[in-house]
Amino acid sequence: MRYLIANWKMNLPPEGMEGWMSAVAREDPRDVTLVFAPPFPFLRDAFSQRRSVSLAAQNCNDHASGAYTGEVAPSMLRYCGAEYVILGHSERRNIYGEDDALIAKKLSIAIETGLKPILCIGENLSVRDEGRVATFLEEQIKATAVPELERAPEIVIAYEPVWAIGTGRNASGAMVAETMVDIRRALSTHWPFHASRAPILYGGSVTPDNVDDLVANGTIDGFLVGGASLDSAKFLAIHRGMR
Ligand code: PGA
Repeated sequence: MRYLIANWKMNLPPEGMEGWMSAVAREDPRDVTLVFAPPFPFLRDAFSQRRSVSLAAQNCNDHASGAYTGEVAPSMLRYCGAEYVILGHSERRNIYGEDDALIAKKLSIAIETGLKPILCIGENLSVRDEGRVATFLEEQIKATAVPELERAPEIVIAYEPVWAIGTGRNASGAMVAETMVDIRRALSTHWPFHASRAPILYGGSVTPDNVDDLVANGTIDGFLVGGASLDSAKFLAIHRGMR
């Protein structure tokens, strides 16, 4: 299964959510699962307006309920219509200090609650420059090898090199293909249940202009798109580029 995920982050598109959703609804998704991750307060409206898209939350808390002011529980996200949840996004890791231990707890409770996790992993530039990408990604995968994984029917991995997110500097198709091999190898060691079946997406400055290069070698199972997903025309052009 291939995926195309729109991560709006803390943004709204100039065309408005209704305009965006109706443009996307006119597209035939083909064999691609279209997933839409708006900011929390828009999930309910998106759920009632959605046609061919599934909904994702951009984050969740690691507890079922309690005194956690400003946080949102996984069950509340399901109530709002979320089917997926993005976990471990580099903006959560780097701006809000989320570490692998916290992400592992979120992964467990998301699975328990019936949310399908989209787990983001990715190295920063110094790790890539030092040639430590494979071991770095393996550590991230190992640290999130929670027992609940075996009960998760569907988990999506998003490989998002930190240096490519929101920078306009995407990884090349060849570089991603090489890294996919490292990720599969780490999955077979630490997440054997999902090793051969977890789809691995790429994210980081994906646009209609670089999608051809990224899909060329056929190893990428889809994309997690930030900036370009705020324009339905660009998002749909990326979808068409997935042929
Ligand atoms: P970007 O964001 O496409 O704007 O680089 C990707 C992401 O953060 O998921």
